[in-house]
Amino acid sequence: MLNQEMANILQSNLNAQFDLCQKLEELADKLPHDVDQQKCLTLARIISPVLKQAHDYEEYTLFPKLREWFGDNVQLMGTLERLRFEHWEDESFADELRESLVGFAGGQDSEMTKSLPYMLRGFFEGLRRHTAFEREHILPILQNTQLQD
Ligand SMILES: [Fe+2]
Repeated sequence: MLNQEMANILQSNLNAQFDLCQKLEELADKLPHDVDQQKCLTLARIISPVLKQAHDYEEYTLFPKLREWFGDNVQLMGTLERLRFEHWEDESFADELRESLVGFAGGQDSEMTKSLPYMLRGFFEGLRRHTAFEREHILPILQNTQLQD
């Protein structure tokens, strides 16, 4: 069934974002001293791909289907717009964060060392709120309704 397949993909993307947040939180907890550079670089590399996979699926597949099925639900349509805007915010934040992680791993300026934990927390706290909302409000729409292609 189409909506169950979509629920499975959404769930797997949400899990990947959850794992990313956990890793970023572990890093934030260890900063500034107890951190290896390779780990920073590895994290810097995966942030954007994890987000892109989730956002592309939602914006090009899932949200268009929800608009098709529930186009007369004004509240849901507004929610999808808000989620889309949050994707854009998270992507630009992710770009900054990647640069800071690469800079930190390269031993660059100490201001960055001070601000990186705050940046990390700002990013993963926002992403956790966004994904918790999708898990609580978007996933059940797919799981609890019988929809046809
Ligand atoms: Fe999303």
